[in-house]
Amino acid sequence: MSKPAYITDQDILKKITPADAIRITKQAFVDYEAKRNKMPEKIYLDLPEYNGDFRAMPAYVPRYNIAGIKWVNSHKENPALGLPSVMATLLINNPKTGELIAMMDATALTCLRTGAVGAIATELLTKIENPNIAFIGCGKQAEYQLKCIQEVKKINHINVYDRSNNQSEIFAKNIKHNLGELRIRESVKAACQTANIIITTTPGTKAIVMKDDIPERCLIIAIGADAEGKQELDHSIIMDATLIVDDITQASHSGELNTAITLKKIKRNNISATLGDLLSGKKITDNNRIVVDSTGLAIQDLALAGFYLSKV
Ligand SMILES: NC(=O)c1ccc[n+]([C@@H]2O[C@H](COP(=O)([O-])OP(=O)(O)OC[C@H]3O[C@@H](n4cnc5c(N)ncnc54)[C@H](O)[C@@H]3O)[C@@H](O)[C@H]2O)c1
Repeated sequence: MSKPAYITDQDILKKITPADAIRITKQAFVDYEAKRNKMPEKIYLDLPEYNGDFRAMPAYVPRYNIAGIKWVNSHKENPALGLPSVMATLLINNPKTGELIAMMDATALTCLRTGAVGAIATELLTKIENPNIAFIGCGKQAEYQLKCIQEVKKINHINVYDRSNNQSEIFAKNIKHNLGELRIRESVKAACQTANIIITTTPGTKAIVMKDDIPERCLIIAIGADAEGKQELDHSIIMDATLIVDDITQASHSGELNTAITLKKIKRNNISATLGDLLSGKKITDNNRIVVDSTGLAIQDLALAGFYLSKV
């Protein structure tokens, strides 16, 4: 039995570009839709005493002949301690024998595959060539949403809002050179008013984006809510938007839609399609507002890990 490889975030970032992440994530959604992958439900270990949680995310991805599990946390107070809010590790096994093939840092990989979902949603669901984008929350996931979306659209302008002005400034400083115009805004409404695409990446547990804050027509990519009880959008937005999810079961119990479903404001069958459906050719009827609820799937993580291993 050979010694398992240890792969770092730096290794991943050297070998997987945002364009790779988008291509591989698309393929993973299509394979999942065609039932070529296996993915049991995520398991949550809640630690409210530390304002955080852990998730265990297993999957089998035959395309790369790997099985494995991601162990990932979400601790929203971490940035004050100088740590990322979300950190992850992946174990990759041979599905035939169970042999451990690799241990991987999966923090960067999580950002890449989550950013890829934003880019895929943008490509599929907005026809606007040069969209205006509002970022609500300017942390790590926002950074990668932007990196990936720039692969599929030339952005006209960006408005950002974060409850920490310091964080908005760090975000603006780090990414400004890529873009024409970026403005730091003092409220959600000011950030969203001219937006064609609104991307929410906060760890909130109550609505921060209200219906009055957003234009009549827009695409909202809701990333932050990825556990039971989390929420970023007011239910009134969800109740009359076209709803697209990465996975119906996960979105219903732990995505942006979870609180609206629990309170019976919407039902699971209000969901119009998954991203895999759309990538496989399903059409949706036009609606002014579309909400994409991303919860993050283990099949995406394993697919990117498999792609990495196929390159080394
Ligand atoms: N859907 C997915 O696949 C997926 C993947 C990774 C992370 N997440 C989730 O995304 C969220 C953000 O993760 P991150 O790694 O970017 O964290 P982060 O700590 O790097 O960034 C979060 C940002 O949101 C800001 N913020 C918090 N509350 C706010 C509010 N009320 N209004 C405006 N800004 C606010 C913070 O100041 C911070 O800058 C977490 O909830 C995490 O669990 C989801």
